[in-house]
Amino acid sequence: MNSTIELLLSHRSVRRFKPEPVTDEALDVMIRSAQMASSSSNMQAYSIIRVSDPEKRSRIRLVTGQQYYVEQAPLFLVFCADLMRLETACRMQGAPLRAEGIEPFLVASVDAALAAQNAAVAAEALGLGICYIGSIRNDPEEVTRVLELPPLVYPVFGMCIGHPDQEPAGRPRLPIEAVLHTDRYDASLYEEQLERYDAVMRDYYRERTGGKKDTSWSEEMAAKHAAPQRTGLKPYLRDRGFDV
Ligand SMILES: Cc1cc2nc3c(=O)[nH]c(=O)nc-3n(C[C@H](O)[C@H](O)[C@H](O)COP(=O)(O)O)c2cc1C
Repeated sequence: MNSTIELLLSHRSVRRFKPEPVTDEALDVMIRSAQMASSSSNMQAYSIIRVSDPEKRSRIRLVTGQQYYVEQAPLFLVFCADLMRLETACRMQGAPLRAEGIEPFLVASVDAALAAQNAAVAAEALGLGICYIGSIRNDPEEVTRVLELPPLVYPVFGMCIGHPDQEPAGRPRLPIEAVLHTDRYDASLYEEQLERYDAVMRDYYRERTGGKKDTSWSEEMAAKHAAPQRTGLKPYLRDRGFDV
């Protein structure tokens, strides 16, 4: 098989890293790859912050709870949705940025995610492992303080990067028919597909934990979404100038 496809199909998140640093050359390749991701109207509405100061790393780790890999990973990047640079460009033209509506927020968030995924694939192509860290949004105000983010910039997620010190099993995905529809949206087989996937995930968890974790995907999702998530995000984003 084509080596790029093989790489994509062998992705798994890595949460334990060797102390060996990630070289500046590797970082350069990752960031240049990130920059070449498609970007809505070439707005490039994202910024990437490398967090190397141990104290800052520790404060961000606290935001994420027990995710010690945030502190231990040789490289930690924060991907931000960023309308501030765009605002500067517009102001330089004497035409202030009109950031009303949800579209600019969405564009910047998508740009950040596409850039991040390109960086992730580049890292993996170099033999590194990565893990996205969305839990920095547990307390976006603290991350904003730590990284001195200006208005019109918000941290979408972090990413741990380093040489893997574990070989996790690939996490099974939904059956392809559940995510690929043809010509029209078709939910008629969801229950059957989810039951099949739940059985696969239950086996995966049992195997991975020596029988300790005995749950299905649907059970996990139901438990996670029984309460609203990160309700502080909307007021935070509004305060930072995003019209959400
Ligand atoms: C936007 C995003 C945020 C994530 N946040 C976290 C996180 O905070 N902590 C963590 O350990 N994993 C996090 N992950 C990793 C997911 O749990 C992981 O990608 C998913 O379970 C699939 O597993 P895999 O990447 O090993 O295939 C995140 C992934 C994404 C895409």
